[in-house]
Amino acid sequence: MDRIAIVGGARLEGEIPISGAKNSAIKLMAASLLTDEPLRLTNMPRLADTRFLGRLLERLGAQVEERDGADGAETVLHTREIVSGIAPYELVRQMRASFNVLGPLIARTGQAKVSLPGGCTIGARPVDLHLEALRSLGATIDLHEGYVYAQAPRGLIGAEIVFPFVSVGATEHAMLAAVLARGETVLTNAACEPELVDLADCLNKMGAKVSGAGTSRIRIEGVARLTGATHSVIPDRIETGTFALAAAMAGGEVRLTRTRSDFIDTLLDKMEEAGVGVTRHEDGATIKRGGGRLQAVEIETDPYPGFATDLQAQFMALMTVADGESVIRETIFENRFMHAPELARLGADISVSGGEARVRGVAMLEGAPVMATDLRASVSLVIAALAASGETMVNRVYHLDRGFERLEEKLSACGAQIRRIAGDGEPED
Ligand code: EPZ
Repeated sequence: MDRIAIVGGARLEGEIPISGAKNSAIKLMAASLLTDEPLRLTNMPRLADTRFLGRLLERLGAQVEERDGADGAETVLHTREIVSGIAPYELVRQMRASFNVLGPLIARTGQAKVSLPGGCTIGARPVDLHLEALRSLGATIDLHEGYVYAQAPRGLIGAEIVFPFVSVGATEHAMLAAVLARGETVLTNAACEPELVDLADCLNKMGAKVSGAGTSRIRIEGVARLTGATHSVIPDRIETGTFALAAAMAGGEVRLTRTRSDFIDTLLDKMEEAGVGVTRHEDGATIKRGGGRLQAVEIETDPYPGFATDLQAQFMALMTVADGESVIRETIFENRFMHAPELARLGADISVSGGEARVRGVAMLEGAPVMATDLRASVSLVIAALAASGETMVNRVYHLDRGFERLEEKLSACGAQIRRIAGDGEPED
């Protein structure tokens, strides 16, 4: 398997263009199942996860065409007919978000058989809220042998759905199903993430009637059919934040372009509090850090607009070399500190107790071989390596490839000493 080698110590200078958002793109791709007309998605990131979902959609009947458009990569998805309503375990197990085809399949054909996704390294991640929402919309849901069997032969019916706590995936799933339901659906205690607003915008271009996305109360007036549309995927806020933290860690000055700084205001405020220079622009932000040491600051992850859990690992990497003790509280996932022992291999001083990590900043990290069990944890090791002495070898690079487009290329264009070493095909552990 491929590895990434990083020699720390180089300052970063230059510009990094941000790609389209992974977590938006995959829900928009699922939305293409709702219509028999083509959905053209522009500003598409080319990632292992989007390729993977493309393959699943093809099995369900979609034609998926990837091409270079005037404004970068685009994907056209066209499902004239659903040829199979089955999303098998082998596929859903590899990418949880595949589960999100369930709602569109029931909405369009009245039936679906989709594997339960199972657990994940960052937490148990049940899908009870997804299933409850679909039941509220009138679907009959049965669970057998690891599969969800869903039926709504006479179509879905609008409903009042009150989520007991905020779930991005369940809110998106309910929206994907309710757009074709008869009557009105109201989602209360809905997630407010920008990716949800993007999904609502795209669905509205397809003829749906969704209002209130981005607030905790979303209203959906069901329509009989949706049409094709063209939609540009929003910039990836997690990639934006990750490169902002990389620049702060390495030092130097990096301008992040083709993105939106308001998506990561909470992170940028914390970075400024720590002593990082931040200038917000129309199309992104410039991150600047001189030679001085940063100050330790505390963070707590929360649903948007709170501090994103998907940036917690990367922020922890920055705090490993800050002056003082940083307390990091993870409130979204119960097991999202797997990067802490790997950061410790680089010399970080971190103790974890339940949902809280205490990071006591050290003067310097030291390169070492490391690996991580999920995407954001892996990139936190890349960030740490940028400021470590000597070489760090990051293993299990396939995690990075799931969610970061041309990571090495973007960093090395700014002066980072980072290179990919092609694997020999042998498993690494
Ligand atoms: C989305 O996951 C993202 N994934 C995650 O990004 C992100 O960390 C998360 O939202 C929070 O922002 C995608 O968009 C593909 P949730 P999701 O439902 O929708 C619990 C990455 O690295 N819960 O908001 O699965 C759940 O276990 C990934 O790109 C239930 O108990 O997150 C968690 O503790 C990782 N029952 C909490 O709610 C349910 O039915 C929030 O999860 C659903 C969720």
